[in-house]
Amino acid sequence: MHPTKLGLLFLHGYPLDSRMWDAQVERFRGKYVILRPNFADFRWSTIAELADQIAWQVKNPAPANVEADSNRWPKRWIVCGLSMGGYVAFEFWKRHRDAVAALVLSNTKATVDDESAKANRRSVIERALSEGSECVTLPMIPKLLAASTIDRQSEKVAELSQMMRAISSESVRRFQQAMIDRFDFSEELASFDVPTLVIAGAEDGITPASMMAVMADRIPQSLFRVISGAGHLAPMENPMDWNDAFDDFAQMLEQTENG
Ligand code: MLT
Repeated sequence: MHPTKLGLLFLHGYPLDSRMWDAQVERFRGKYVILRPNFADFRWSTIAELADQIAWQVKNPAPANVEADSNRWPKRWIVCGLSMGGYVAFEFWKRHRDAVAALVLSNTKATVDDESAKANRRSVIERALSEGSECVTLPMIPKLLAASTIDRQSEKVAELSQMMRAISSESVRRFQQAMIDRFDFSEELASFDVPTLVIAGAEDGITPASMMAVMADRIPQSLFRVISGAGHLAPMENPMDWNDAFDDFAQMLEQTENG
């Protein structure tokens, strides 16, 4: 039994998979219907196509996803994306607005890459295809995690390495190319008309909190939270605080939905 009307859709970052949301599923599974797709399981080449395919799954639940009664399958979802998952959330919002009750944008950005970042992605693709995906994924660990996570949470480093080892070179190519080609949402932020929680990691060097604060400022109904002791993977690194921030936001939404 899920007492809430809203579903939770969790969209993972790169080079990870849906296991990055384990701590969120653990905390919220009794309360919400939760979907956390693995991007590598879909056939797509652009972020927009990926968002459409995920939307199809959201709107046409497979029997295995429908617990007890298909009438209870949520029509509206809290769409939560981390980093690349945020890029997917933006497209999902643009193309499937009817299904979006709220957005949670964690460690992500609305802008696109400059030429040097695009060139870097092209070289990552080449290396992954010639030398294997681990050569380009594993060295990212010190950039993705806060120094304190690396020092004190060896199990998180192990979980992350496991996800990185599972990603194929072909997925690296597809994800990176799709990110090169992604749409710039910075001019759209002012038109976001759903409650939006923007969450940053205090030690995130990829999408710094200062940059995310600017993004939050441009979204009309936004709340901004910074998670301490966390880098780019805040929901994995400090799940307790991240989940509390999420829960406060979700409870506020429920009151609005029910009120
Ligand atoms: C991610 O964590 O998904 C990546 O940092 C996204 C990106 O490479 O832009």
